[in-house]
This record gives sequence, structure tokens and C-alpha cells, in this order.
Amino acid sequence: MFSELKPLPLDPILSLMQAYKEDTHPNKIDLGVGVYKDEAGHTKVLDAVKKAEEHRLKTEDTKTYIGLAGDLGFNAKIEALLFGAQHQVIEQDRVVTAQAPGGTGALRVAAEFIKRCNPEATIWVCDPTWANHYALFEAAHLSIREYPYYDQAAKSLRFEEMMQALMQVKSGDVVLLHACCHNPTGMDLTKEQWQKVAELLKEKQAVPLIDTAYLGFGEGLEEDAYGIRLLADQLDEVIICSSCSKNFGLYRERTGGCTVVAKNTAHKDNARSLLLTVVRGIYSMPPAHGAAIVDIILGSDELTKMWHDELAEMRNRINGLRELMVSKISDRNVAQDFGFIQQQYGMFSFLGINKEQIARLRDDYSIYIVGSSRVNVAGVSRQNIDYFADALADVLK
Ligand SMILES: Cc1ncc(COP(=O)(O)O)c(C=O)c1O
Repeated sequence: MFSELKPLPLDPILSLMQAYKEDTHPNKIDLGVGVYKDEAGHTKVLDAVKKAEEHRLKTEDTKTYIGLAGDLGFNAKIEALLFGAQHQVIEQDRVVTAQAPGGTGALRVAAEFIKRCNPEATIWVCDPTWANHYALFEAAHLSIREYPYYDQAAKSLRFEEMMQALMQVKSGDVVLLHACCHNPTGMDLTKEQWQKVAELLKEKQAVPLIDTAYLGFGEGLEEDAYGIRLLADQLDEVIICSSCSKNFGLYRERTGGCTVVAKNTAHKDNARSLLLTVVRGIYSMPPAHGAAIVDIILGSDELTKMWHDELAEMRNRINGLRELMVSKISDRNVAQDFGFIQQQYGMFSFLGINKEQIARLRDDYSIYIVGSSRVNVAGVSRQNIDYFADALADVLK
């Protein structure tokens, strides 16, 4: 049975991580992998998480199954985080969440949920998007179409073209949107653009699937939820896949949720039943630990404050590094303008350099960047930013 198997290509980011690990250059820099790093290049456990874990260790009294929907306290708190505690979809009992194994698990559930709701649905994804979206939607046999999103040359949104492409969306189709800190471009919709998208989706009777993996990493928790809240305000049906990997630093604890907003409570109850059926057929029940930690943090004023402060520290570091990167590069008098990095949000931006330049950064300087030229801004520090800017200026000569 296995004799015919051939090795499959590894995700390029994973190969890059491996090459970086094996590199012995003292100044090596990893700008590939998509995790937050502090000034020391470390992805630490947040203090709020540590405190919550201490509490959990003392109070956890069973390891029995958690149930299909996962941690109900977590689910309610995630909904409050996404919509704001007083939002009409919560007050009107139109929203249900299934805790899932990370944002990825939530997307896999959402994909299957969509397929079961409407087997004919096309899912429209932005070009470019997080590469794993394709694998997740293909796994549910959804047909996928792309809409233009980012202009690599102009370093700007292709909003007019995006709207034109989305004119072809059919009733019952699904449109994937990134809530904030778009991966891989860092380019987010403005408030006016969110409004136009809401109107178009309403007119087309299409459903948004909002992927939110970086809430709080852009401008702030409230600001970053703007698009989610606007669409929930104006549309009958919305799906949101959230991840606590980055903003709570819970990566390996696989913590996320698939949230569905329905037109009314009866529709919501049916959506819940389908969500849980889908969950049962994929992983049966989610892991407990990460969700319990989030529930403890968001259930305590003290720990919530601590988390807000730590989240702000991560956000400010990223935004500060964006500014610094632009000024350090411009100090080197390179011909290209990298000012766009400062206009973008979250960990990622496309540098817009070519394959040879990316290869030279790796071969000559041990600076690791994925082939698309996407960089994780949080991968540099105030200590090595001059080394990075010198190297970039050299390969751009
Ligand atoms: C856009 C986007 N969605 C979802 C995810 C999945 O996050 P998780 O690690 O929680 O599965 C990521 C992670 O990198 C992401 O960038």
C-alpha cells in the first residue's frame, strides 16, 4: 500500500526554518517563520498566560472529554472579543461558536460547514492569501476562485479590481476576508472599503468568511475588529475563524474558534447542530488547555489588563520596527522606496525584491526570507536592524 508513495514537497516555510536552524552564521536572521519574536528573538510565554496556568493547575479537576463545542466560557469570551460585549448579534442570540484546534482547525471546520450548507458554493479568496487557505478549502472540495487584492508593483490595494471581480459572486458563495494584519501583505481594508464590501455582499447575498489570526496586532483590539463588527452589523450571516496563537502566544496549544452569525435564533440553532456534526467527524472534540487559559485571562480583570499590556507591547514593537526599518533602509540611499512598510500592519510585508536578491540575502548574509519576499517584521531587532539594512542595500545595488 505504501510502496507507491513519493515524497511530497515540504511547505517552503518549513524547509526555510530547517535551513535557518542548521546555519551557524553568528548574525543569521530568520524573517520567514510567522511567529512573533521579542528583542531577544524569543517567542516567550506571556506573563498573563503563566499566571492563568498557575491557577489552572490548582483548579483543574478532570480530564474527561470537553464536549463537541469545546469550552463554553472560552466561546462566550471570544464572541465578546470579536463583536464587543453589547453587540446586537449577541443580544439577539444569533451567534454560536465552536472552539477549534487553532485558527487552522477553525478554518477546516468552516470549510466543511460551508460545503454542507451549500455544496455549490464557490469560496473567493484574495490574491495573495495565506497559502494554507487553499489546502483547507480544497480538503472540503470547495471550488476556489481568486479576487485581486494587492498590487506588487504599486504596493497598494487593488480595491477597484477586487470589487469588480466580486461582482461575479453568486448568492450563497463565500468571500474570504482577513480581519486585519493581512497575511502576507500587511495591507488592510480601510473603513470605507469595508463598507463597500458589506454593501456588495448584501446585494449578492454572499457570506463573508473572516479570518482573524492577528486581532490586536494592528492598531488595537477594538480597531482591528472594525470589519468584523461592521459586517455583523449589516449582514444576516457571517462566519469568523479566530486564532489565539499570536495574540495570546498560545501557538502550540492550538486555540481558536469557528463563530457563525445567523439571521435569527432558529437558524443559529441549526447552524450549531451542523457545526457540531462537522466537528465530530473531523477531530471529535478540541483540546482543552489553551481555551481554558484564555477563559481564565478574560474572566479576570487583573489578567485581562496584564494581557492587554503585553499585547500592546507586541503591537508597539512591531509598529516601531516598521518605522525603524523604513528609516534605516532610506539612510542607505537605496533607489527603491520602502515607505510602504510603515503604512502596513501586522507582522508581514512583501519587500518586493526578486528571487536572486532573496537568494543573495540568504547565501551572503544568512538572512532568511520566503520566496515571495514576505518578511516577518518581528524577526528583526534593534540590535540587528543595521546588519539587515546594510545587507538589503548591498543586494539592491
Ligand atoms: C491568516 C492566517 N489564518 C490562520 C492562521 C492559523 O493560525 P493557527 O496557528 O492558530 O492555526 C494563520 C497562522 O499563521 C494565519 O496567518
